[in-house]
Amino acid sequence: MKIITIISLGTVISLSIMGCGKKEIHYDGESLLKHKCATCHNLDMPPKTYKDEKAPPMMAVSFHVKDFMKVENPSDKKPKFIAFFKDYVLYPDAKKSFCDKESLKSYGVMPSQKGHVSVDEVGAIAEYVYDYYDQDKFMEQMKAKAHFDALPKGEQIATKNGCLTCHGKVKSKAAPSFKEIATRDKKEISATILNGSKGKWKGFERMTMPAYKNRISQKEITTLLKWMKKL
Ligand code: HEC
Ligand code: HEC
Repeated sequence: MKIITIISLGTVISLSIMGCGKKEIHYDGESLLKHKCATCHNLDMPPKTYKDEKAPPMMAVSFHVKDFMKVENPSDKKPKFIAFFKDYVLYPDAKKSFCDKESLKSYGVMPSQKGHVSVDEVGAIAEYVYDYYDQDKFMEQMKAKAHFDALPKGEQIATKNGCLTCHGKVKSKAAPSFKEIATRDKKEISATILNGSKGKWKGFERMTMPAYKNRISQKEITTLLKWMKKL
């Protein structure tokens, strides 16, 4: 019985590896977006600058097309979004645009991209845009950024450099805590950050403190040490 199962499983797997012989062209939505649309649409999320805009940033396009698009069933949203892109990019029209009248006037209607991009390419772009410029993901990023910005400078440096994966702030983890380290000689501990060390601390002999010589500046070390002292 087992053998039969294994054989039939093997057949299924090899059949699916062989496929049906039909070659599918794979479109990379992300690189198409960069190559075909970035001359006018700012692709940053969030957009770093709004100066000299030729078109709304792609994040704004994605967010408001999603907002204004009416669907009965939430699962219809993505296909409808893709269909809108396929139509609009090739056959733009002020009447179809979700842009408000003011913005439409200042940007002017988008010139048709017919001949510059194919329907299938727009489909791949739209699929990527839909997933990448996602409101929930954006809110998460903003929250994470606000949280990071609110940290003391020293903790920002420790976070960015991965120090906190080994060191706890007040509790030891794989390495002694920064609170404890801060009681030691300043010169010595700043030298350790540059050169690394091993075996100095009891109980942590199995781990190595990596050298940060080329990755951290003297000024950053000073900020780190000041922060550690306050813990
Ligand atoms: C020559 C500049 C230019 C290029 C290139 C361009 N766009 Fe646009 N696009 C605009 C302008 C301007 C608008 C705003 C006015 C409007 O809605 O027509 C716009 C609007 C849009 C809208 C409609 C937004 C809405 O709110 O209704 C979509 C969708 C869109 N662009 C997708 C694309 C995609 C995808 C590409 C790349 C294949 C692209 N655009 C390339 C200028 C451009
Ligand atoms: C891979 C884990 C790991 C990472 C990442 C790490 N450390 Fe360490 N660190 C250690 C270990 C283990 C020790 C104890 C070394 C010893 O016993 O000699 C240590 C010791 C130290 C000491 C004590 C030095 C001394 O001379 O007593 C300081 C200061 C320190 N680390 C700062 C940092 C800073 C700042 C960062 C980030 C820029 C960092 N560490 C990243 C594992 C790590």
